[in-house]
Amino acid sequence: MLQINNNVSGATERLESGIAELSEFRESDRPGWTRDVFSESYRASRQWTADRMRAAGLEVFTDAAGNIVGRLAGRNPNAPVLVTGSHTDTVDGGGRFDGVVGVLGAIEAVQQLRESGQVLTRDLLVVDFLGEESNPYGLSCLGSRAAAGELTPADLDRTDYRGVTLGESFASFGLDPAAAMASHWARSTPLHSYIELHIEQGPTLEQRGLPLGIVTGIAGIERLIATFTGSPDHAGTRPMDDRRDAMVAAAEAVLAIRSEGCGAPNHGVATTTRVESESRSPNVVPSLVRTVSEVRSVDSEWLTGVRGRLAEEILTRAQAHGVDVEFNWSTDNEVVSASTGVQDIAAGAADQLGVPWMPIPSGATHDAVHMATLAPMGMIFVPSKAGKSHCPEEWTDTADIATGVGALVSTLAALDTTDLPPAARN
Ligand code: GLV
Ligand code: MN
Ligand code: MN
Repeated sequence: MLQINNNVSGATERLESGIAELSEFRESDRPGWTRDVFSESYRASRQWTADRMRAAGLEVFTDAAGNIVGRLAGRNPNAPVLVTGSHTDTVDGGGRFDGVVGVLGAIEAVQQLRESGQVLTRDLLVVDFLGEESNPYGLSCLGSRAAAGELTPADLDRTDYRGVTLGESFASFGLDPAAAMASHWARSTPLHSYIELHIEQGPTLEQRGLPLGIVTGIAGIERLIATFTGSPDHAGTRPMDDRRDAMVAAAEAVLAIRSEGCGAPNHGVATTTRVESESRSPNVVPSLVRTVSEVRSVDSEWLTGVRGRLAEEILTRAQAHGVDVEFNWSTDNEVVSASTGVQDIAAGAADQLGVPWMPIPSGATHDAVHMATLAPMGMIFVPSKAGKSHCPEEWTDTADIATGVGALVSTLAALDTTDLPPAARN
């Protein structure tokens, strides 16, 4: 196996300058390092990313779904290809490392492979997937979803808060929505495997003092938009025991959702991110309130039951306040296991490099979820300082990123020469 360590000449400088330069593409009127999908800063940043890929020796094209793909030719053009990558969009008020480490780390891996003189058997594709983060259309992983043939007409009809559809946003970004939907990679590109380098985004690796995590699976996500309808009344005159207060029912729902996450037997988290009231006046009992929540777990049995349990609990609480509830559930993604074959190869690579690691589930979602429908999938995590992510404080030391890149290079080299039997896919 190729021996790469994190002192590879120039690696630290290239990673540091890359992260610093990419972070400059941001919306200056937003907190943190905000680079929303379809924004002007995102558009400009992707030109930079494509140039960076070219400078590393990749042949670059953009597919119909807006994924930027850099190809490193292998010796056998007919062999199923290796894929690695991540995303470069951020959440509102986000940080500089989520996704970026997987894209710039993959470009750095190519640089190291080329400098070592090693030519892979298979083509290697480095991908910057379009719009991984959840967006105002409520759909994450736009590019990888399309690559997996999972982008649907109903998805393209989703609207943002201005009433603009996702399809219209694809079009204004210069992408044909119909072509994006039809860009299913399985039709054109047989894939051997997918491996993604990413920051952990949680505290486990740092707490255990470990430089690497090898992902065992990715949490499923159930999203809920609940609409609470009560009755508008004078807030100064309507007695407390004779109200149909939609806000109170929504507040009960927020607590019920939190309790659901706290009560998960293995792994579960539940969060309400928005509570919106239609009442603009402070002296009217709120009559229409909408909440946006999500529940995540790697325990699919528990997650499967969450809709029924929460519907009952929220309904009971709302009825006690005379409030009606309408539930609008959607599954962002189901629980996905990493391929045992890819996990074993990544673990072997880490062992051979002498880098300690642990198996770790991912509570965050990733493009890897959708690539797993196309090929055996694995992920390598590097530590996040204080476990902070999706915030400006998000940080990973360059030395840790370089260690992750070393593991990525060795894993790619080992995957290149390994046939993954069907049993190793899941
Ligand atoms: C993306 O980072 C997510 O986990 O929602
Ligand atoms: Mn990410
Ligand atoms: Mn993210």
